[in-house]
Amino acid sequence: MITAKQAEHSLCIVTSADLIMINRHRIIALVITFFTTLFTLSVFFYLSVIPSESLESDYYSDEFSGSDHYQYHHGGEAGFWGNYNKANLEEWKIWLGLSDGRDRKTEARKIRQLGELFHQRFNITEGRFARTLNAPALERLAHCIETNTCGKDEEKVVILASFHFNNAMTGGTSGEDIWAKSTLDAFTSLNYTLLYTFESMDTLTLYQGLSDKVQTILWEGNQLDASISLKRFGCIKTTDYQEGVPLEKSFTFHFWQGPANPLGRQFTLSPENYTLFNKGGEGNHYLGYSIESRCKAVSLPSSRHHRGMALGKYANYFNTSSSEWVWGKEDILGKAISSMPASEETGEKFEMIATGGHDDDKTGKHEDMYKGITNLGKLPQQEWYQTLASSKFLLGVGKPNMSPSPYDALCFGVPFINPIMSWNHSDPEDWTKWHTQHDALRPYGAPYVYHVQKENGDQLREAMQAALDNPITSYIPPPMTKESVKQRHRTLVETDWKPFAMAAVKSLYTDKDKEFPYLIV
Ligand SMILES: *[C@@H]1O[C@H](CO)[C@@H](O)[C@H](O)[C@H]1NC(C)=O
Ligand SMILES: *[C@@H]1O[C@H](CO)[C@@H](O)[C@H](O)[C@H]1NC(C)=O
Ligand SMILES: *[C@@H]1O[C@H](CO)[C@@H](O)[C@H](O)[C@H]1NC(C)=O
Ligand SMILES: *[C@@H]1O[C@H](CO)[C@@H](O)[C@H](O)[C@H]1NC(C)=O
Ligand SMILES: *[C@@H]1O[C@H](CO)[C@@H](O)[C@H](O)[C@H]1NC(C)=O
Repeated sequence: MITAKQAEHSLCIVTSADLIMINRHRIIALVITFFTTLFTLSVFFYLSVIPSESLESDYYSDEFSGSDHYQYHHGGEAGFWGNYNKANLEEWKIWLGLSDGRDRKTEARKIRQLGELFHQRFNITEGRFARTLNAPALERLAHCIETNTCGKDEEKVVILASFHFNNAMTGGTSGEDIWAKSTLDAFTSLNYTLLYTFESMDTLTLYQGLSDKVQTILWEGNQLDASISLKRFGCIKTTDYQEGVPLEKSFTFHFWQGPANPLGRQFTLSPENYTLFNKGGEGNHYLGYSIESRCKAVSLPSSRHHRGMALGKYANYFNTSSSEWVWGKEDILGKAISSMPASEETGEKFEMIATGGHDDDKTGKHEDMYKGITNLGKLPQQEWYQTLASSKFLLGVGKPNMSPSPYDALCFGVPFINPIMSWNHSDPEDWTKWHTQHDALRPYGAPYVYHVQKENGDQLREAMQAALDNPITSYIPPPMTKESVKQRHRTLVETDWKPFAMAAVKSLYTDKDKEFPYLIV
């Protein structure tokens, strides 16, 4: 009989013997695993450090070094083994996920050649500063492709073929320049590679050098027109000229409301959402702009003067005989100004200022813009921002139309008084029927925007008083925040617009029995 204790004991012995066996096996297994892993890692390491082209370049250097005889034999041999190894090596690397199968060296070399060619052909001329940025941008692109270090979206190229992008970088302040500045900021924050051109041929050269990498081209309207009419050399892609710039990637950078692209509205970019207020909801492709960055970069004054500021930098905007002047011939504006009470807190007298006009050549005195308005003269941009930010409202006088300045004002916490030029007399509150100095601001109301009927002195006085009494904090219309604008720029570049182009060809040409002379493939 074996007692329970004995049984337990013998079991123990068996187990220990087994354990010794297991340990031996384990050591062998560990050794095998160790060497297998070491071998695999070495292969990985070897594959990842050795370029696939290395064998190929050996072959080429042999070709240039030896006699014909030597070259034939040795070169041939190296070629055979080289090509064999190269192909295999590359396949292995792709299979192991160490390579994406791109010939990065050749791609990079071609981009560098393009950079040189562009520099030779389109050298730097005055007023075309932005071209100097292309060589460094192409070099960055070539480098990151070669070393496989491109950031997300860096290989997406956008060609900016409008001089407004140049102006945006060299201190231009027109509405288009401000829009262009915002577009540059958006594209830059999206990490796209940006290239700058001014005409047909420089655009074509870059497009042809980069082809599929070019996602989008933003054209100045008349440059796109000029490119389209270049029949003899060709620029836009047609059946006869397939190397041309594809129209479905060509958008027009157009400030105003009408379509300005052979493919119509969808391909005409606009700074404002014109669909919002056009009859029938027709409008161009709303890209929009943001003044958020530049506004937030301005340090705001700690207090405001008891004053209003008139918008408009030319004296003729204040010409009371002009049909565009909105504050009447009877000095409605002058009376409104003199009726504003002094500040209750500081006792400061109310003042109305303007910034612009011409200075007298001899005395340097600023031009009188309007009786009762103190003209501070033309101010440098930063000073102009400070002056606006330390005022209590910005007043429109009829022109300029759709200026970005009221957005600056709102962002600085300064309300805008927007003149209504025409309205439905039976329903004066229906803003969709208004025509105002700044139509994009019609949906916004007090205390941000005060809409005042042309030549209506009472309304004007009330609006000025309300603006003085109701200070606002910084305001940016939601579609104009930096983030919102950035998203629309992303959509522009990352959408395949071909189906939209096809639809436009159908509705604008085929359905109307018109010939469409370009090629969309
Ligand atoms: C720039 O272009 C002009 C006109 O094509 C040419 O005469 C000039 O030599 C070029 N300059 C440089 C530095 O390439
Ligand atoms: C752009 O690149 C920078 C630096 O490489 C990176 O931090 C950032 O996240 C990128 N932005 C986008 C939108 O991919
Ligand atoms: C532009 O306006 C239209 C019409 O009101 C509207 O449907 C659309 O959402 C607006 N687009 C943006 C980006 O705000
Ligand atoms: C003001 O406008 C009227 C009408 O357009 C024009 O005849 C006049 O020359 C203008 N005056 C000035 C100073 O520009
Ligand atoms: C003006 O408003 C009236 C009253 O609401 C309306 O019947 C009329 O159609 C409007 N006119 C126009 C041109 O919109």
